[in-house]
Amino acid sequence: MSKPSQIVRVRAAPDRAGAEAVESAEAPADCSVRLGRLELPTPIVTASGCFASGREIDRFFDISRLGAVVAKSVTLEPRSGLPTPRMVETERGMLNAIGLQNPGVDAWLADDLPWLVDRGVRPIASIAGSTVREYRQLAEKLRGQPIAAVEANISCPNVEDRGTIFACRPEATAEAIGQVTRLLGVPVFAKLTPDVGDIAEIALAARDAGAAGVSLINTLLGMAIDPETGETVLGGGTGGLSGPAIKPVAVAAIHSVHRADPDLPVIGMGGVRTVEDVVEFVRAGASAVAVGTATFADPAAAFRLVEQLPRWLADRGHARLCDLRGQVSGA
Ligand SMILES: Cc1cc2nc3c(=O)[nH]c(=O)nc-3n(C[C@H](O)[C@H](O)[C@H](O)COP(=O)(O)O)c2cc1C
Repeated sequence: MSKPSQIVRVRAAPDRAGAEAVESAEAPADCSVRLGRLELPTPIVTASGCFASGREIDRFFDISRLGAVVAKSVTLEPRSGLPTPRMVETERGMLNAIGLQNPGVDAWLADDLPWLVDRGVRPIASIAGSTVREYRQLAEKLRGQPIAAVEANISCPNVEDRGTIFACRPEATAEAIGQVTRLLGVPVFAKLTPDVGDIAEIALAARDAGAAGVSLINTLLGMAIDPETGETVLGGGTGGLSGPAIKPVAVAAIHSVHRADPDLPVIGMGGVRTVEDVVEFVRAGASAVAVGTATFADPAAAFRLVEQLPRWLADRGHARLCDLRGQVSGA
């Protein structure tokens, strides 16, 4: 891949000196994106669980400038989560075992959602359950609420199926997603785990069950052990690996799903920190891109990307981000 310093700016390119090329270099590129019925002015959104519901960050940055805020996953009942320690730094990433700590769907609807709406944000609710019935009940609660979309985090263990993760089996994916999409009038995105053999097969099962798109990827299963004591470092034993370490896994997952169905909207995530990461995800096939772990090191990360993306594209002669979607060669 070319390094930015090796890329010839459009204004300086001798073979593209026409008026149009010069204009596109001066005007920032159009970064608006469309994911089915969901239209966003910028592709940059938050990754569930990494911004809570946005209140903490809004004291410093205007969260309405983001494409959307994907909230922390909520469950039917409040959850206090797993024992500490819950987060540990790894080489180029992070392991977390928060255990879906959240105030429960009713509290989210009463407190966080009205605040997000007041702030002029496009809220995307995230729901997580342990049974198909729980997903249905969560969808019932969200019906008619002022949300832009729902992300169904189906990367949770299905207690009715020996604890297998919903998103590890196409049938379980279709059951859970079918229940949610039947009840909701807003687009539903199925959040998938990369810890499967063929993620495209799962994505197509979600699509066939009514999902408007898929969110790729959730964290990968990981573990850290203290070599001196032999104890697991995380209170919960295993945890989810996120951050730059998982970026190539995310790019491959997005590419594989995009190749299986180029029309299926994808929200991509996994180690995104820079504007180059965003464009790489879009070239793999993502329509929108979520920022997660990067926020813990740099709370400005997502806002910086919103600012930088239009100019980065224009400087390289691209008038519209959406033209780059799926534009990859050699694969
Ligand atoms: C601390 C933490 C909490 C998370 N909580 C959730 C969650 O509640 N629901 C969910 O769908 N994903 C959750 N995720 C996964 C992220 O949304 C994202 O899919 C993953 O971290 C990969 O993106 P990243 O590398 O940019 O963080 C969480 C990730 C982290 C690091």
